[in-house]
Amino acid sequence: MRVQGKSIIVTGAGGGIGEGIARRLAAEGAAVIVNDINAELGEKVTAAINAAGGKARFVAGDVTRGDDWAKLVKAAQDFGGRLDVVVNNAGWTHRNRPMLEVSEAEFDKVYAVNMKSIYLSALHAVPAMRAGGGGSFINIASTAGVRPRPGLTWYNGSKAAVIVTSKSMAAELGPDNIRVN
Ligand SMILES: NC(=O)c1ccc[n+]([C@@H]2O[C@H](COP(=O)([O-])OP(=O)(O)OC[C@H]3O[C@@H](n4cnc5c(N)ncnc54)[C@H](O)[C@@H]3O)[C@@H](O)[C@H]2O)c1
Repeated sequence: MRVQGKSIIVTGAGGGIGEGIARRLAAEGAAVIVNDINAELGEKVTAAINAAGGKARFVAGDVTRGDDWAKLVKAAQDFGGRLDVVVNNAGWTHRNRPMLEVSEAEFDKVYAVNMKSIYLSALHAVPAMRAGGGGSFINIASTAGVRPRPGLTWYNGSKAAVIVTSKSMAAELGPDNIRVN
């Protein structure tokens, strides 16, 4: 199988799409670092994966913090022997609402969780991937980034930033054998 033995970090894997990604990768033989800011949710998903015969370890962390990214990368290297893949899945939005009613704190959080996390993942994971001869980032964007709808203006923009940033990362990291999708 294509991910058999790969060492993979999945952020925001305590529920939703990230949980599904983590479960599937583990079922296919990857060593998965399950990350979430919510420890209760992340521990539960990790226990379910291990109970099903998969290989997973929970690492609590906030993807908007560089020191938490350092912990995640180190955990993947310890648990899976190296770092092959980062799935930047954790995302956040305020509820659907007119753009002028979104607070500055909410705006900052949208960009921190959806976009700054990718910058921090690159700072910490690219050196590890380069040391291992290559790797892969999977950045979860959204149709919101290509077909924006009212009520989510700032979220839409953050996801468009994820898309163009991922293309730029792919162009820049290709020579290092690091794919970005
Ligand atoms: N659900 C959709 O319809 C949809 C559509 C398009 C794109 N997306 C994107 O897919 C991704 C997952 O969406 P979802 O619907 O599964 O979300 P969700 O809200 O169900 O799950 C997100 C998980 O991320 C965790 N999280 C939030 N902030 C975090 C942080 N700072 N650090 C670590 N973990 C954090 C949450 O605790 C939660 O478990 C997001 O990037 C989202 O923008 C979702």
